[in-house]
Amino acid sequence: MAIIAPSFLSANFLQLEKECQLMNESETDWIHLDIMDGRFVPNITFGPMIVEFVRKATPKVCDVHLMIENPGQYAEQFAKAGADHLSVHIEACTHLHRNIQQIKSLGMKAGVAINPHTPVSSLEDVLGDIDLVCMMSVNPGFGGQTFIPRTYDRIRELRKMIDDRGLNVLIEIDGGVTLENAKAIMDAGAHVLVAGNTVFKSDNPAETIKKLKAI
Ligand code: DX5
Ligand code: ZN
Repeated sequence: MAIIAPSFLSANFLQLEKECQLMNESETDWIHLDIMDGRFVPNITFGPMIVEFVRKATPKVCDVHLMIENPGQYAEQFAKAGADHLSVHIEACTHLHRNIQQIKSLGMKAGVAINPHTPVSSLEDVLGDIDLVCMMSVNPGFGGQTFIPRTYDRIRELRKMIDDRGLNVLIEIDGGVTLENAKAIMDAGAHVLVAGNTVFKSDNPAETIKKLKAI
């Protein structure tokens, strides 16, 4: 069964408390929170303050995806805000291993996010140190983009790397996940589906979550 992580990037920020309640009453496992700095990606979203508000309004896992430069500077603030998972981009970290150790020492689960152009093999030497790979299936920065088909091969490659070594690392697919492609993504070897537009732009988000989970 898929772990579902609806992305608040597509939620209505004028009624964030309601959106949290909606999540609380749904079958979702995680809430995915996208942090963008206008430098690593062309868009700007929100920071630890909003994560803290969401944390207070939900017992669901707060899965924080940092699309920012110099994430080490902010890891402590996100830990204090109540993030359960913190993912940093491999492309943004000169000292990735140090970033991972920092996240874990702050009591969070450590994730590494990877852009569509970055070879999956570049994760090899940190795979044993992390809990989660956030594999981008679009170029990060915006919700509602189209899934890049090459991702299927990338999922298979990563899943093989994980299984061959008997590791316990979750593969999270982020971007362009729909009710139509979710099964193929899971069949390729993913564990977690992030879904922004598919959940929040649907008529019945809780029902959509239920459908995604059942895939
Ligand atoms: C994109 C973000 C995603 C985004 C996904 O940069 O990392 O989490 O919210 O949105 P959808 O599911 O609409 O593609
Ligand atoms: Zn994301």
